[in-house]
Amino acid sequence: MASHTATWDALNKLAQAPDTAGPAARAAAVDNDLAVSAAGVHADLRKQGIDPQVLQALVALAEAAQLPQARAAMFAGEPINNTEQRAVLHTALRATPDALKRRMANADAMIATLSEQRERESAFVSAVREGRWRGYQGQAIQTIVNIGIGGSHLGPELVVDALHRSGPSELQIEFLSNIDGNNIDRVLRGLNPATTLFVIASKSFTTQETAVNAQSVRAWFLERTGDPDAIAKHFVAVSNNLEAAAAFGIPADNLFAMGEWVGGRYSLWSAVGLPIALALGWEGFAALLAGAGAMDEHFETAPLARNLPVLLALAGVWNSSCHGRASHVLLPYDDRLRLLPDYLQQLDMESNGKRTQKDGQPVAGTTGAMLWGGRGTNGQHAFHQLLHQGTQDYSADFILCRTPAHRYSHHHSYLNANALAQSQAMADGRQHEDPHRAVPGNRPNTTIVLEQLNATTLGALLAAYEHKVFCQGVIWNINSFDQWGVELGKVLAGPIHQTLAAGGLDGDATHGPATAALIALLTHRNEP
Ligand code: F6P
Repeated sequence: MASHTATWDALNKLAQAPDTAGPAARAAAVDNDLAVSAAGVHADLRKQGIDPQVLQALVALAEAAQLPQARAAMFAGEPINNTEQRAVLHTALRATPDALKRRMANADAMIATLSEQRERESAFVSAVREGRWRGYQGQAIQTIVNIGIGGSHLGPELVVDALHRSGPSELQIEFLSNIDGNNIDRVLRGLNPATTLFVIASKSFTTQETAVNAQSVRAWFLERTGDPDAIAKHFVAVSNNLEAAAAFGIPADNLFAMGEWVGGRYSLWSAVGLPIALALGWEGFAALLAGAGAMDEHFETAPLARNLPVLLALAGVWNSSCHGRASHVLLPYDDRLRLLPDYLQQLDMESNGKRTQKDGQPVAGTTGAMLWGGRGTNGQHAFHQLLHQGTQDYSADFILCRTPAHRYSHHHSYLNANALAQSQAMADGRQHEDPHRAVPGNRPNTTIVLEQLNATTLGALLAAYEHKVFCQGVIWNINSFDQWGVELGKVLAGPIHQTLAAGGLDGDATHGPATAALIALLTHRNEP
């Protein structure tokens, strides 16, 4: 097998050859079957400018990076998160017992833990949904408020927003994440404490936003109920730090554990997904897990060149590392997936926004792209102008559904026609004698089609993106499962908060002159 460096060199040479990234390459790709289906998800990469030779070089790169071995190590529960010495086992949360036994040496212990957790979680969900869980005045619960941020927020909100149809007999699900008081004001406005259940979700139970929001919500609740015993009927917590959750005042029966081996941004499959199960019912949550599990099996067993997450990852490496495309745009052409870009931003950018290899050496080239996007067709009337004629290069994913979930079939064909038209315009562009009307094209993009959007296909789609991120991390030799870069801001915010809360300090130099000037402005010591 060629070395990792030699395979990079071969690939970069292909990237520099003028005929590998244009329409000719796309035409060649039509024959090489750069379209693959798994678990109800179809990915078509024929507009990626990846010809058979490039595909071969990309697969060689993945092999040289020992992707199959790394994949097996993740599924087996080896401590691949090397800077924190942790296993990465979100896949265990959606695996069948047989799959776990095949993958892991100590599967029996894991199976026992998971089945005990699942039993408690599903019993809780049924009690709330069936009205057997009663509030402090004996009423059934009508509203759930999830208090959590990052991975303890984005996945559950995406799935609930996509699949939950609210109605008078359904639970209302709200999300409180931001430390901004406007968020808490909006969420609590009009809520009845007697029929509201708060789920505090925090793996660490030390996250500032969640801690401050949880304290303020508890104060709001006690002001209205005047009864500390009522807490037990209205607050539950999900955490890996059960002592801290208990210290907050959550009774033991209301604590739901998550393993240390579930990363925050990979945690919607754990008890962090309780708002999903509360919204969809346990069967809905189980279907989400089953869809993700089916994608895991595909990822685990399909050959690299026919492996959906691997192909998504290789296209990303080709665009980011070989062509310097620093931006990746997500274009869901299904209104129910409007929160997908927000969710994938954390998944991808917190995982692969790294500049240091696993062994501590600096990376040689680029790593994760900047992700952004928004739903079609709204984006067409906002930012697509830049996508078609701007000077910045990028790649894009279109996400479509084959079967609509509504009765406006002509809307559905308009929607999908727009998606295909945008994808074609980006790829092929248009020559025109008037330069203002010419569109350069050559913007590589992938079209992902779900047979229909439901819990199973959404689970499969999210798992595909998780594995895409994993494969890219392996190829770039970075640890996709830590997030040390976010710590500095947290450390700096502590003393700045103290100064702001004290109303500013005259002549204070601790924060540096630029920050001190802004503190003075914010504390009215320096009127603009
Ligand atoms: O600060 C980043 C982060 O640690 C994310 O990785 C995580 O999803 C989020 O904060 C919330 O963390 P926790 O679930 O521990 O409150």
